[in-house]
Parts: sequence; structure tokens; C-alpha cells
Amino acid sequence: MNAKLALPAADVSAWLAAQSGKDLLRFLTCGSVDDGKSTLIGRLLYESHMVLEDQLEALASDSRRLGTQGAELDFALLVDGLTAEREQGITIDVAYRFFATERRKYIVADTPGHEQYTRNMVTGASTADLAIILIDARKGVLTQTRRHSYLVSLLGIRRIVLAVNKMDLVGYAAQVFEDVERGYREFAARIGLSDIVAIPVSALRGDNVIEPGDSMPWYRGPTLLQHLETVPIGDEVDAQPFRMPVQWVNRPHQDFRGFAGLIVGGSVRPGDCLRALPSGFTSRVARIVTADGDLQQAVAGQSVTLTLEDEIDISRGDLLAAAEAAAGVSDKFESTIVWMSDEPMLPGRPYLLKCGTRTVTAAVAQLKYKLNVNTLEELAARQLELNEIGLVNLNLDQPLAFDPYTRNRDTGGFILIDRINNNTVGAGMLQAALRPAQNVHWQVLDVGRGNRSVQKNQKACVLWFTGLSGAGKSTIANLVETRLFGMGRHTYLLDGDNIRHGLNRDLGFTDADRVENIRRVGEVARLMSDAGLIVLVSFISPFRSERQLARSLLAPGEFFEIYVDTPLAVAEARDPKGLYQKARAGKIRNFTGIDSPYEPPENPEIHIDAARLSAEQAAEQVIGQLRIAGVIDRDWVFIP
Ligand code: ADX
Repeated sequence: MNAKLALPAADVSAWLAAQSGKDLLRFLTCGSVDDGKSTLIGRLLYESHMVLEDQLEALASDSRRLGTQGAELDFALLVDGLTAEREQGITIDVAYRFFATERRKYIVADTPGHEQYTRNMVTGASTADLAIILIDARKGVLTQTRRHSYLVSLLGIRRIVLAVNKMDLVGYAAQVFEDVERGYREFAARIGLSDIVAIPVSALRGDNVIEPGDSMPWYRGPTLLQHLETVPIGDEVDAQPFRMPVQWVNRPHQDFRGFAGLIVGGSVRPGDCLRALPSGFTSRVARIVTADGDLQQAVAGQSVTLTLEDEIDISRGDLLAAAEAAAGVSDKFESTIVWMSDEPMLPGRPYLLKCGTRTVTAAVAQLKYKLNVNTLEELAARQLELNEIGLVNLNLDQPLAFDPYTRNRDTGGFILIDRINNNTVGAGMLQAALRPAQNVHWQVLDVGRGNRSVQKNQKACVLWFTGLSGAGKSTIANLVETRLFGMGRHTYLLDGDNIRHGLNRDLGFTDADRVENIRRVGEVARLMSDAGLIVLVSFISPFRSERQLARSLLAPGEFFEIYVDTPLAVAEARDPKGLYQKARAGKIRNFTGIDSPYEPPENPEIHIDAARLSAEQAAEQVIGQLRIAGVIDRDWVFIP
């Protein structure tokens, strides 16, 4: 047991029992050290002194080992705001502090105020019910105040406390307070914040933090703590239509099939009609099962297992929603995203999108603008950098059940995960489904890929050559095509330089342009292989993500990644087009291998040691390996 935990187990249970009946208010403090934030939080913690903070921290870390179920439940509440990020291995510096009074438990997310900490603030705010925006009475509304307020509004926090601090330094003057409050309200109205309680405080002296004090008799409103004690909590989620993302399908035996999850909106009773999404099947609730027996009603915030009257197909990641007020379903969205990674967000690059319990693949189809969070100006941009916020159109590979974020933060909020290293790279809010694409259908054609392959008596596939500029890709690909052609195979060679003269003429060599370059040629390669051809692609294609994207467009066994492995020094010494020399002289920017990265394949189907082999030998190796893979010699019979 942790040495810090002074309480014996019995007391822990008693303490937890006493706490479990209390409401929990999560709030965020925004402002910088200069505004007096630490003093304010320190004072709240100290003067409320009902429970010492580190006892609670110790409790949190020990609750698992102590093994009381009550403890487990309670502390999940304390830390779950960060779970998704923790699982994804991102370290975000948000200090969470816990305290409790007779009436309520509190979790304070204390985030640094500067712009480079935007992502921390987003993390801290994602579960908060209320935000305290701290202002120095002497300075009034600053750029930073505006940025914090915008983020708070973006993240769906509606309740604001404007703490006008350092009143002692302005002689406790009512006029100063009123001017600051008026200025703030004018700005807040523009970004849709209206539920604002302004309180004049002196964190240093304590006035209006816990007790009113006697320095500001003109102020008749609540003190900060009085307000925190009485502000309504959670009423919005309870009033929502029912929502439960399915976490787990519990099927211990033939006669029981339950859907377990956390209710994130509304309430449910036996007999209620639910719709499973995205499938759309409906059924009625038979039972609400918990470890402590069946319930007659369950509400947002409770974890339960539901059984239904009918056998309908539901799996992890589906959403159970009130049938009469079901969530929307789409695979195209308008959404705001906050970028949280050092690697920029590149339109076209596939990321994993995790919304509730569902994970799909998503790519930004269009970055409409990025926002200057200080001035709220909308700026044209081709990518998003760390801490930047943008409005985007997203394309998903599968439909997702959702609510707009403003209606439900759980079914409308998501994180984006890098597919290669599994890090959380962004957080987003779904705004609306984009409709037009719903009217574009997939036309079923009678002559298919299979028929075309058989007619050509070959296995249609894609041979994807990747490697540095000057590695020898095009020379080898050209020889391979000549050999295949000579064997009577039907082929086509897509070469980077050539395609950049036509289809991709509009693209340069920034990361974003290369992503789009490869996305397009991947699609073209897929279409040509659909036409029954053996397609050879010779592009540097420097990024793993996009090569994986190209691969994912084809069936297993139809994509051959061929790594033309020539060390940079060798390619540079050859320099067939004189480009390395120009790049070294600073005449070409973003040159692969010089000032733009190349990510070598990890498991290519064919690995060519191009520094040792001649182009002919390399082509021979490719032909040999294609033979082994059965691409060349077999006669193809299509069995529909
Ligand atoms: S990719 O990175 O987007 O896949 P692609 O294969 O289309 O590149 O084009 C690479 C060719 O463009 C090179 O072989 C070279 O001839 C030429 N090129 C011109 N500028 C650059 C650059 N900055 N980086 C790499 N190649 C360049």
C-alpha cells in the first residue's frame, strides 16, 4: 500500500460511501500565473480543507489494489478525462486537483495559459462542466482571455465564471469591476457564451473566494465557492435523448446476450424502444442489469448492461439510441479539429478516428480554414501545425453514428490517432453531416475486375516501386514492364515524373502535396488494376501512411511494395538529373533525403539491394519473385 495513504481500508470504504452520494463538479481554470491562478486554486483547496488532496491521489492509485468495487467506480470518474490520451501514450501536462466540501466533490483541471499549451487546455476542458476565466482587474480583457474563452466555447462548456481578480490592487472599486464585466460580456456574446457569472475577488486576501469579506459591500452576488456549490450540474445530459455506446457484448451463455456500456445521454427504462446504429435495427429494452441487481431506470453517467427483447445484430462500437430521437449516421462530416502533434495534419492522410467506443479510418478531405485563436480570423492553410485549430471536411471509411458536439460531447467528440505510431494527434468536434455525397451511389457494373483479369489471362495487381530520387526505381520498373510485356502481359507504368506533367501538374513537393500526389496515383492504380492490368507505379512515395493507404485500396495479395533500396550517398553520387547538387546548393527546397524525410518500408514484399545489383539483375529479381507469388505463370479461370 502506498505510504501516503494514511487511512486504513475500513476508513476508505466509509469515506467512499460518504462521498458517493455527492455530486461531482468538474471545472477548468483558465488564466496564467500572473493572473493569480495558483493563489486562487491554492486558497480554494486550503480553505475548503475537507479532504487533503494527496490523500485522494493516494486513494486513486491504491483503489485498484484495495479492490473495493466502489473505489474502482469512483476513481474512474476522477481520471477518465485522460484515459483515451493515456492509452494512446501522449503526455499532456494538465494538473488535476481534487477536493470536496460537505455538498460536492470537485475536480479542477488546471491548465497552463500560454498558446503553446492549447492542447493541454483542450484535454483539461474535454470533460469540464464549468470554466473559471481569470482576469487581472488592472488589465481587463486580454488576447489570452479571448483565446481561452473561444476554446471553452468550442469545447462545449457553457457555464462561465468570470473571476475578476486582484480587486485589492484597484482599491476594490466597483467601477473597475463593472467595466471589466461589461467588456467581457460584449465579447462573449459574439462567441455564443451567455451563461456568465462575474465575481470580483482577491485571491490573495481571500475576499469573495470562500467568504465575502468586508471590502466590497457593493457586491451582492455569491462568493466563488458559494457559486460552485450551487451551480446546477449535469442537467443537460440527463435531458438528452438516450445514448449508450456499446463497450462490450456480454454473452456468457446461450440464453443471455447483454450490451454493456456507459450511458452518455438521457435515461432508459425497461420497455423503451431503442435503435442500434449504424444498422438501424430497433428493439425494446428487456432488462437493465447491474452487479447489484436489475434497475427500473438508469441515467447518464451509469454503466449498465442492457438486454433487448429481440435478437438483433449489435457489436462493440455500435450506438444504442432512443428510437424516437435517434442519432444521425454519416461518413462525411464538417468538423473542427485541434491539432496536438508535432507532425502536421496533412489533408488526405488517413488517421484512425475514435468516437466513443467506435474506431474508423478518416481523412481530411478539405481544410477549409485555420483559425487565428487570438483574433478569430479565418486563414487559408494547407496543413495544421501543433496547437492549431481548423475547420475541415472529413471522409470516413465507414458510417458513424453521431450527434453534433454542441448537443452531446460524447457522441460528437472524437480523437484522431496516427495509424503508424498509435499516438493521439488531434481532437475534434463533429458539427454536421455533409449531405451531398449521400446522393452519390455506387453503380454496380456487370463486367467486373475478375472478368477482366480472366480475359487478359493474368492476375491484375499493383507493383509499387518506392525509394529515393535516383535510386533506380524508374529504370528497374521500365525493365520489369518490358519483360512482362514481352510475355504477353497487359501492363501500364505510372511514373512520378510523367504523372507530374499531367494529372498532378498542380502539385509541388511539400508534405501535403506529396500526400495528395500519392493519394491520387493510388486511386488511379486501383482503377487500372480494376481494368485487369498489371500496374507498375514508380514514385518516391516517401511516407508510410500513404503507401499503406494505396495498399488498403487493393485486396490482400494484389499489392506488391517493392523497395528500391539505394543509400542516400549512392543515389547522390549518381545524381542522374543533377537534382541532388541543386538541392545541396539550396536551389531546390524540400528535396527527399536532404531536407524532406524518406520513411523506408518496414515489410516490403520485395526488397532490392539496388546499390549492389545492376538494373537488369534487379528486374530479374522482381520477375522471379512475382513468379513465386503466382502473378505471372498461372492461367486464370474466373469462377463467379
Ligand atoms: S513523391 O515524393 O511525391 O512521390 P514523385 O515520385 O512524384 O515524388 O516525384 C519525384 C521526382 O520529382 C524526382 O524523381 C525528381 O526528378 C523530381 N523532383 C523535383 N523536386 C523534387 C524534390 N524536392 N524532392 C524529390 N523529388 C523532386
